[in-house]
Amino acid sequence: MEYVLGIDLGTSSLKGIVMNQEGSVEETASTNYVTFHPQSGFSEQDPKVWIEAFHEVLTELLAKKPALKENLVGISFSGQMHSLVVLDEQNQVLRNAILWNDVRTTEQTQKITEYFGDELLKITKNIALEGFTLPKILWIQEHEPDAWLKVRHLLLPKDYLNYHLTDKITTDYSDVAGTLLLDMQKKEWSTEILKEFNIPREYLPDLKESNDQTGILNHEIKQKYGFEREIKVFAGGADNACGAAASGIFDEEMAMLSIGTSGVFLSFEKNVTSDYNGKLHLFSHVFKNGYYSMGVTLAAGDSLSWYKNTFAIDSTFDELISEIPTSSEGLYFTPYISGERTPYADSKIRGSFIGIDTRHQRGHFTRAVLEGIVYSLKDIQVLMRNVSKKSFTKIVSVGGGAKSSSWLQIQADILNIPIVCLKTEMGPGFGAAMIAAVGIGWYDSIIDCGEKIIEYTEPIYPIEENVKRYKKLYSIYQQIYPATRSICHMSRN
Ligand code: XUL
Repeated sequence: MEYVLGIDLGTSSLKGIVMNQEGSVEETASTNYVTFHPQSGFSEQDPKVWIEAFHEVLTELLAKKPALKENLVGISFSGQMHSLVVLDEQNQVLRNAILWNDVRTTEQTQKITEYFGDELLKITKNIALEGFTLPKILWIQEHEPDAWLKVRHLLLPKDYLNYHLTDKITTDYSDVAGTLLLDMQKKEWSTEILKEFNIPREYLPDLKESNDQTGILNHEIKQKYGFEREIKVFAGGADNACGAAASGIFDEEMAMLSIGTSGVFLSFEKNVTSDYNGKLHLFSHVFKNGYYSMGVTLAAGDSLSWYKNTFAIDSTFDELISEIPTSSEGLYFTPYISGERTPYADSKIRGSFIGIDTRHQRGHFTRAVLEGIVYSLKDIQVLMRNVSKKSFTKIVSVGGGAKSSSWLQIQADILNIPIVCLKTEMGPGFGAAMIAAVGIGWYDSIIDCGEKIIEYTEPIYPIEENVKRYKKLYSIYQQIYPATRSICHMSRN
């Protein structure tokens, strides 16, 4: 039996998934790492820890499954999107990576919008947002000119790991779509944008399709672990695209709702012409001629973690969720604790509890947090419906949001669509393994692979009475952002 390895280089951990030739997962391993916040709004990681994490995970997987030495044939990646890695002439890391959830770049983002106006949207299909890669490049140019002088390579996280494995500097379309440097129609680095911001083309990697081979596992690592065969390495994809592939999002009838640190509502797009006017991101999928649109709630699972750590440190998530009442009785929560991206691209907005009453107990607050996160994701669903008239037959819920039946029912009721989960949920790393499986030739395409191996649970249907109630409550929730915007902005100026 042959095996492939999918690696998910996430924001809080690196996970490895071993898939066999029949498409079943045989082993997994993961290890966490830290994020630094040297100033408010800053979010950084040392790329060296990703490499250490990779070796830790590989060591664990080999201990669990020694047959990998003989029969591992392919590796691919899923990576946290947008985060910037800079290397010098000797391909050494010059500074910590600036992550996707770092919001230091408001000025640079405004500058990009001023210089490029609507052209940016035409070329990249996206508007400038703090989280994307280009503003981070401009921030280094402005604030760390000495470092910028030394920069020779601009990379995304998974591509840095790929370089460590293959000695080749490459990237893939799904990840590059989130940099604001790709001409989405032409499928090449945008010469206009590079020129405007003085970014030499040679600093950027070669572009590949996700299942294109980028190289083979280098001699040093092969020797170190005693691998016997030549191991092919494939480009891989952005974590959201890999997560969508692992959830079977290959047509317009289905959407994915993913609650991790951030929350994502994502749907398939047949082409790049959908006009969301930048209100939603439009990115390349992990297969040729496939795209997806998505919106992001910056702090989804993060809001729940913050709430638990702040108000219920001694309880488990299960305990907290088990005490929720059937209604939050007039209490609302907006999950804008780190600013927001969709539908309000607003780094200064902050969260709120509204309507606190003497009768409210902890359970009401917990329920309000769970509901607030889903309302915020519903905002994205509503955008998709209003702009592209999309309506879905079912939604695949993944991540933390899929772990509680009470929360899944809240999702079905607020979104008013049947919700399914994956029978075996492995996250974006499974998408990375699917990419490697296609690259090796076990399947004809990602869609073929997905159709053969992805299985869903029975749907959770919306309950009519709850749907009616939530319709009203959601219309009240929608008024909280405009009502709290100026207060939040004033207190952050
Ligand atoms: C997507 C985004 C996040 C990261 C998480 O635009 O910023 O979902 O991909 O890794």
